[in-house]
Amino acid sequence: MIDRCTLWLATALTLVCQAGSLAAGGSRAQALKALCGRLEIGPGAVIADVGCGEGLDAAEFARVVGESGTVLAQEIEPAKLATVVRVAAKHGLHQIVPVLGQSDDPRLPDGFVDLIYLNRVFHHLAQPQAMLRRLHQDLKPGGLLVVVDQHRGPLTDWAPTERREEEHHWTGETTVVRLAREAGFLFHDVLEDVWHEPQPFVLAFRKPAAPPPDAGDPDLPPPLDAKALVRALPIPQQDGWAAIFVGLDRGRAVLPALKEGLPPSTRLADVVLDEWALTLEELPPGAPHPGTEVLRKNNNSLALPPDMRLGLVLFVDAYQWLWEPVPLLRQLRERMPDSGLLAIVERQGPDDEPRRLAGHHRRISSRRVAEEMREAGFQLRQTLAPPTEDRCFLLFEPRTSHERLQPEAPKELRP
Ligand SMILES: C[S@@+](CC[C@H](N)C(=O)[O-])C[C@H]1O[C@@H](n2cnc3c(N)ncnc32)[C@H](O)[C@@H]1O
Repeated sequence: MIDRCTLWLATALTLVCQAGSLAAGGSRAQALKALCGRLEIGPGAVIADVGCGEGLDAAEFARVVGESGTVLAQEIEPAKLATVVRVAAKHGLHQIVPVLGQSDDPRLPDGFVDLIYLNRVFHHLAQPQAMLRRLHQDLKPGGLLVVVDQHRGPLTDWAPTERREEEHHWTGETTVVRLAREAGFLFHDVLEDVWHEPQPFVLAFRKPAAPPPDAGDPDLPPPLDAKALVRALPIPQQDGWAAIFVGLDRGRAVLPALKEGLPPSTRLADVVLDEWALTLEELPPGAPHPGTEVLRKNNNSLALPPDMRLGLVLFVDAYQWLWEPVPLLRQLRERMPDSGLLAIVERQGPDDEPRRLAGHHRRISSRRVAEEMREAGFQLRQTLAPPTEDRCFLLFEPRTSHERLQPEAPKELRP
């Protein structure tokens, strides 16, 4: 197999050449120690360093878990693993156990590991979904998965996954969160504050202590009554307008009901977010729905047909996914007559949660939503009855140029 990560290999080779640095520590070592401290991983723990390269981090983990612990140094390249074995023996780190894996299977023992760690490996995964499902099996209940990779935000390098093992293409943070959740992980936290480099994201996930029997995201809001939700929507009455639907997770169930509830001549577009997609061709479940057209958002811009005037935009369980909502909202506002409506159905989150975490937790404060909408030229028209206890249902309308000059009277936001 050709070498795929020159930069990181160079770092690892430096380590091997200067074997003394294994003991000397340094900022990378401090970062790993701090990371384990935050996750309460210590002596006696089992850590799997998946895609460990030549073992730079595995050696540090060996010191964290001590002689009573185990570090599974896992790789798909036998030559790298041979280096790990040599260096571990030289330094008496007998708790390091080499594991040779495959592209779709890490070959770790089931239910055995406290912490699985992938440093700059996720973007090389040719079969990320299969790998994540296996990693989920390999963790003990309540065990942790840490993914350190690049870059923050949605995917921008759309190379097909099968090319990623051999070539270098960064992944996107939102893609990692999506795939980890779909594989059964709960989003836990972001940990860049302990990291020694500024560029990567450091995401921590947890396997539920009592994993549900069905695969899939263990933290979805309850199902929606799609027909009741559509009935509650004020559908604009003028002709010649189009509707936009942005729905993910449980929210996708609303698309067929929306199609049925609209006047038959209404053009309906189903938006695929780059925060979600793994490839440029991927479609969410149920797409394309008959009578709808698929539109893709990429790099903060939605490929809207030039003649499309938007009478209605509906986000269902999808608004919090937006990494940078205002540019998209402004684009939608520009295509909307003053009579247009934008509705958001979303699980409620705490007011003080940072935007990035709101997305990863799949919940957002309605106050934050209203602030973002206001920045993009909308105002709250009405708070509709929540479709479930944990969700809000907010209806916005464009602020007209006259209203934009007036100070807006605050409207109550009821949970
Ligand atoms: C950029 S290197 C990172 C090495 C190490 N984690 C570090 O930070 O120094 C990526 C490593 O991932 C490994 N890799 C790629 N796909 C893998 C897979 N499916 N399973 C395990 N390792 C994989 C490669 O062989 C390579 O050693």
